[in-house]
Amino acid sequence: MEFKQQLKENINYIETLLNDYMPKEEGYQNTIMEAMNYSLKAGGKRLRPILTLESCKIVGGKEEDAIPFAVAIEMIHTYSLIHDDLPALDNDDLRRGKPTNHKVFGDAMATLAGDALLNYAFEVMLYSSINKEDSNKYLKAINEIAKHAGIYGMIGGQVVDVESENKIISKDKLDFIHLNKTAAMIIGCMRAGAIIGGANDEELQKITIYAKNIGLSFQIIDDILDIVGDEDKLGKPIGSDLENHKSTYPSLLGLQESRVIAKELIDDAKISIKDLSTQGEFLTKLADYIVSRDR
Ligand code: IPE
Ligand code: IPE
Ligand code: MG
Ligand code: MG
Ligand code: MG
Repeated sequence: MEFKQQLKENINYIETLLNDYMPKEEGYQNTIMEAMNYSLKAGGKRLRPILTLESCKIVGGKEEDAIPFAVAIEMIHTYSLIHDDLPALDNDDLRRGKPTNHKVFGDAMATLAGDALLNYAFEVMLYSSINKEDSNKYLKAINEIAKHAGIYGMIGGQVVDVESENKIISKDKLDFIHLNKTAAMIIGCMRAGAIIGGANDEELQKITIYAKNIGLSFQIIDDILDIVGDEDKLGKPIGSDLENHKSTYPSLLGLQESRVIAKELIDDAKISIKDLSTQGEFLTKLADYIVSRDR
């Protein structure tokens, strides 16, 4: 199957899974479920859940075992986007081709919808792990996600991103931001999938290197698209980084150099997984897609 078609089918699959796990919009608190589901349903590339399932399969695991984790990771990612768009952070009005959560539900409800998605994600993962035969494996996977989403991962990166507005920072600090705000979640979701799939240490190490490289490259391309991208394709505003005086790869190194680095990282990612079974095909093509994407 052609890669584009394969990716589309994977996205559709993730969307049906997400639908199964979305909270019912009922009770006095139904507004929060509406706000959560609004952003979950809005679309997006579904990259992280796809990677979770793929890394479970590539080490010989059963995809079904990783499904609640894939769904939970998309919930955590979606919460991070809702909060990232808030006026107190990037102050953006468009996300996934729709008005941002706070534009529809207000700042208070959007803040709570983010909180709720983060909490619900852990409910989903923990509930699915109760009474599992190999529960330690699932606990390890949950730990990976918690760690990579938190102060030693995504939140840590977001903190330094916000503090670096209106400043010229070192390349080292910029890499800290990108590795944490974006690559960390990608590492966490792939390690979780691989652990559930029964990866050995060597496989886990290779998958981690792949995830780190595509994760950093993904954010460099995100920075580039914020300058040269098409708002309709991206479904989010361009020029946001410039407006917020963000520290980005292009602002520090220029567009050309940024593109070269993004491509080198993808080459390294592909090398790291080249002997991980023939199913590695998809991950290899996915790495290429990350650097060539326009959305
Ligand atoms: C956007 O992530 C935030 C970043 C880490 C750059 P995505 O570009 O994966 O957003 P969606 O999920 O496709 O909307
Ligand atoms: C955000 O990076 C990464 C997150 C953890 C949400 P950006 O602020 O560049 O993401 P976009 O461009 O708004 O999607
Ligand atoms: Mg941001
Ligand atoms: Mg943003
Ligand atoms: Mg961006």
